[in-house]
Amino acid sequence: MRLDPDTVTGLRQALRAAGYGYDAVATLLGPVAHTALGRNETTPGLRVTGGGSPLETLTRLWPLQATVAGRDLDRALPDLVGPLVAAGLLTRDGGEVRAAVDVRPYADEGHQWWVVSDLTPGLDQAAVEVAPDHVLGISPASTSLAQLTVRDPVGSALDLGTGCGVQSLHLTQHAGTVVATDVNPRALDMTRLTAALNEVDLDVREGSLLEPVAGETFDLIVTNPPFVVSPATGTRLVYRDSGLPGDEVVRRVAAEAPRHLAPGGRCQVLANWIHRRGEPWQDRVAGWLGGSGCDAWVVQREVADPAQYVELWLKDAGAQHRPGWTERYDAWLAWFEEQHVEAVGFGWLHLRRVEDRAPVVHLEDWPFEVEQPLGPEVADRFRRTDVLAGADDEALLGSRLRTRVDVRQETVGEPGAADPEAIVLRQQRGMRRARRVDTVEAGLVGACDGDLTVGQILAALADLLGEDPAALARDRIVAVRELVADGFLLP
Ligand SMILES: C[S@@+](CC[C@H](N)C(=O)[O-])C[C@H]1O[C@@H](n2cnc3c(N)ncnc32)[C@H](O)[C@@H]1O
Repeated sequence: MRLDPDTVTGLRQALRAAGYGYDAVATLLGPVAHTALGRNETTPGLRVTGGGSPLETLTRLWPLQATVAGRDLDRALPDLVGPLVAAGLLTRDGGEVRAAVDVRPYADEGHQWWVVSDLTPGLDQAAVEVAPDHVLGISPASTSLAQLTVRDPVGSALDLGTGCGVQSLHLTQHAGTVVATDVNPRALDMTRLTAALNEVDLDVREGSLLEPVAGETFDLIVTNPPFVVSPATGTRLVYRDSGLPGDEVVRRVAAEAPRHLAPGGRCQVLANWIHRRGEPWQDRVAGWLGGSGCDAWVVQREVADPAQYVELWLKDAGAQHRPGWTERYDAWLAWFEEQHVEAVGFGWLHLRRVEDRAPVVHLEDWPFEVEQPLGPEVADRFRRTDVLAGADDEALLGSRLRTRVDVRQETVGEPGAADPEAIVLRQQRGMRRARRVDTVEAGLVGACDGDLTVGQILAALADLLGEDPAALARDRIVAVRELVADGFLLP
């Protein structure tokens, strides 16, 4: 898997000369074939890439994982096929060549990269059992974490469980130094190759969880850890099964990562957690964060019942259409039952180290559509948390807040009715939150334009309604805090 520097340089130049970039491949495939490839179907793509140009040949070789003619590939990768076969990146059979690993164009916000990973298993409905040391390519979870990550400039960053190195590529755009760790030596080889191809500097280290960075601190830690909640029986797929019981891997990350954060540092994690009978998920996850010294914003995005969860991950392992499906399904369900697991939650943990005050921990369910990238909203939420933590009720009433520009008011009611049955404030961007409010809250949010203080607006509303201003302010202060925390009102 290791390539000498001259071969890496030659490969980079050949990929550039062929125009092998994300947009070019998407354009070549067209929307139908591109979307089909996203569903792991290559037939539409093969129909539109038969012209033999270098870009078509490379698209057939890597994204479509097809056999290509050696003479076509020699034109696309001049003098490189032999060295790439020797290094194990390609396999040759007579005059035909196939990819042994993937080299995939990837782009985000004007940056173009190539990412090296294992081939996508199970293309075109092929029944393929995934290898235990499989190195995952760019997955929906990878892009989700990348879009959640706060991209403020930082001195140092850690990509824990780097896999193909995709998070590290992003981190090199805004971190002075980037450490990339993994337990899988094949993943580290691929990350090194990803880094070399893209000419970025990574400090690549082998080891489990935070062991490779003992005694070090970072301004940002990101991780999409092997969080699948599975019994310790059967084949362990290192990219998703930690080998630890239940959701212990996420507990360990949540408990240990804060010790590796510099003051003000952030840790962002994609995670699964167990819903155990009799224990609210919020108590379980909040319990992991006690004593972390971090503000925490935890969002549960989805909940799968045991059967949905088992099916999802058995299919991910390529176990469908294979002998043993029923036995493995049954064993996994039996293990869930023994562990009193009623469901599994999927979501995000955002942590930020605070120094001079008590941490604020907020856990919520938000299963509705959001607008990615949410990194800026994560940063803003922590900034608003700071403002709220530093403001007592009197200070908050004295503050001049502004309604976020994307907040819209919706009213629902019978046609022709004098008053609405319900008023909802809805954000059009970011978390796209909706909040049911009454006329006082709607009036408050409508009047917050940075001119009058919250106290003045509430006093005017009390006057209109014939209520006691002090009582109204007292009654509404919790709502004001929530409206600020959730970004309807900005400090
Ligand atoms: C779900 S993949 C994420 C890969 C990549 N960071 C991404 O966002 O797509 C999880 C990665 O964690 C690695 N891993 C598994 N167990 C680990 C451990 N104990 N310590 C560190 N990394 C581990 C796996 O090899 C795999 O590369």
